[in-house]
Amino acid sequence: MSPRIAVVGSTNIDLVTVLARMPAPGETVEAPDFHIGCGGKGANQAVAAARLGATVVMVSKVGDDAFADTSLANFRRFGIDTAHVGRVRGVPSGVATVLVEPSGENAILIVKGANAHLRPADVEAAAAEIAGCDVVLLQLEIPLDTVRHTIAAAAARGVATILNPAPAVALDRELMAQVTFLVPNRSELALLSGMPVAGDDEVIAAARTLIASGVGTVIVTLGAAGALAISGDEVLRVAPVAVTPRDTTGAGDAFIGAFARFWAESRDLAAALAAATLYAADSVTRPGAQSSYGSADDFAALRAAHGRVPVSRSRR
Ligand code: RIB
Repeated sequence: MSPRIAVVGSTNIDLVTVLARMPAPGETVEAPDFHIGCGGKGANQAVAAARLGATVVMVSKVGDDAFADTSLANFRRFGIDTAHVGRVRGVPSGVATVLVEPSGENAILIVKGANAHLRPADVEAAAAEIAGCDVVLLQLEIPLDTVRHTIAAAAARGVATILNPAPAVALDRELMAQVTFLVPNRSELALLSGMPVAGDDEVIAAARTLIASGVGTVIVTLGAAGALAISGDEVLRVAPVAVTPRDTTGAGDAFIGAFARFWAESRDLAAALAAATLYAADSVTRPGAQSSYGSADDFAALRAAHGRVPVSRSRR
């Protein structure tokens, strides 16, 4: 049976401008390219997991506009269950303005729109589906009380949770204590811990403060530098995968969707981290967020060509 994953999170349309350079305040610059894509951290993670063969149920809100139709059709195209994707009347769908530099780095502005209307009651309406899942994925582009409710409900039913604290806001101990996997990037870890995060030792020390708050495992995505997973006194170091980046938008979401899919299947943390790191690295070689995610067949071929990404284990 394929792994079952619920995503309680955002759905956006990405308006992507490819820049030669960021404009200075008050300046107008011409940009070479533009495209529209399906995005939103929740939707991206759902699509990554579904493309890799997971059975995915999406709990989300879209607006009262043509973007909503595009997003719903996109979910269905990938076989994602949309029974709990509601439309909110008189409200626009979530939109992200994404600026991509020649280096592949990006800057993103989001308007939450309908995502701000995803309520605990919407999660309760999907309680039976969520209870039947291996893992629930969450991010912070929806109201924090909905995130809090979902994590508590999943914990009460023994369902594992993965929280991607993006965009980062301060989180209280009560919430963190119920999270199975917290997956920040370096800057999100800095904000959550209030500590420096320059090298691996600093990242590990910062992650330990979150473990002390009760998080099960902290997985820190480090972009081109790979990833670290910290739990108890054990540290897993995932080696970087060298690629030439074209667009890093949604790479973190690719990692999380893939991690959820592989961990749900095997409960093997090192193997899931290795697979997720390779899947995310491959995604940055193509433009867009979801448009850069490979299928299960693509990934099988990639893994055969590349081999397993090394993961080293230490106690500290
Ligand atoms: O993580 C990338 C995503 O962030 C984009 O797809 C955009 O919609 C924003 O939510």
